[in-house]
Amino acid sequence: MNFMKKSARIFVAGHGGLAGSAIVSRLRGAGYDNLLLAGRGELDLLDQGAVRAFFAAERPEYVFLAAAKVGGIHANNTYPAEFLYENLTIQGNVIHSAWLAGVRRLLFLGSSCIYPRLAPQPMKETDLLTGELEPTNEPYAIAKIAGLKMCEAYNRQYGTRFVAVMPTNLYGPGDNFHPENSHVLPALIRRFHEARLAGAPEVIVWGSGTPLREFLYIDEMADGSLFVMNLDEATLAGHLLRYPKPCFVNLGSGVEVSIRQLAETIREVVGYGGKLTFDASKPDGAPRKLLDVSAMKALGWEAKVSLRQGVEETYAWFLRNIERVRG
Ligand SMILES: NC(=O)c1ccc[n+]([C@@H]2O[C@H](COP(=O)([O-])OP(=O)(O)OC[C@H]3O[C@@H](n4cnc5c(N)ncnc54)[C@H](OP(=O)(O)O)[C@@H]3O)[C@@H](O)[C@H]2O)c1
Repeated sequence: MNFMKKSARIFVAGHGGLAGSAIVSRLRGAGYDNLLLAGRGELDLLDQGAVRAFFAAERPEYVFLAAAKVGGIHANNTYPAEFLYENLTIQGNVIHSAWLAGVRRLLFLGSSCIYPRLAPQPMKETDLLTGELEPTNEPYAIAKIAGLKMCEAYNRQYGTRFVAVMPTNLYGPGDNFHPENSHVLPALIRRFHEARLAGAPEVIVWGSGTPLREFLYIDEMADGSLFVMNLDEATLAGHLLRYPKPCFVNLGSGVEVSIRQLAETIREVVGYGGKLTFDASKPDGAPRKLLDVSAMKALGWEAKVSLRQGVEETYAWFLRNIERVRG
């Protein structure tokens, strides 16, 4: 039984982004057709007055908060002030306005970078605030921690139902394929594709290839998010609203692959026949980063799409959108 009625008025903040657009597709696919969508031009989520007025006028019943200032290590390092200010402000405005407007449930999208740099693997929800954060994205992680603590505080003080998911590395159609600013998976898709077209004899991948990473196909992130928002009241209250239990759950595939396995999978899907070489003189990053997904499994959800399937879908999208991607 779905908690949210099909006619429910649902605001997806950040609906144009990778995560937000997948949530919109998933909602539409499930028959939700009373969606409230407002791009940055209509509603700047940094503008407190505008956000309050929007919530007061539009009265959404449910909110998916997928709007954020997002970026890789380089952007995080270059613009730490913007990462902290914009994320704190967007989530502060949306969460507070949601409370004022009597929103029934809100789902805040966090990130696995909330966990300490040296957290034991796989990382559990209870590892939050048990150690130092990774310095390169600390401002972003601090903002995300503040966001989920804000949900928790409003639940405690005002009895709201504001919960959060912490997705692992996401990928899929609509991803960023920029040659310098993209994440490893879309970056490799582009490089193997271009190497195949150019007939290049070799593709060099940074690092030793041994670090283990987890990837979640974007549609599964959307599916898991919808699943959490549709939990029945007793389950939601029992698992996510009982402070000091965390008000969030990890959202991952629970499967880890080495960068070498990832590169091999992408090479096969793209059909590149050249040599794959690892440049071990380049940095590897953390040896392992995996979410413990047992809490989500206990709630009744787990990921089903294999990495191979997900990469095939993503590459097919890349080929259909190649002109736009190149831009
Ligand atoms: N991508 C991942 O691998 C990943 C992994 C874990 C968690 N997440 C989480 O998922 C959420 C969304 O990430 P994403 O990858 O979908 O990012 P994204 O593609 O950059 O999308 C972010 C969205 O937020 C909107 N936005 C930002 N500032 C805004 C403002 N001031 N007013 C209105 N809209 C604004 C953007 O609009 P514009 O297009 O106008 O900028 C965009 O639509 C984030 O909270 C992130 O932490 C992502």
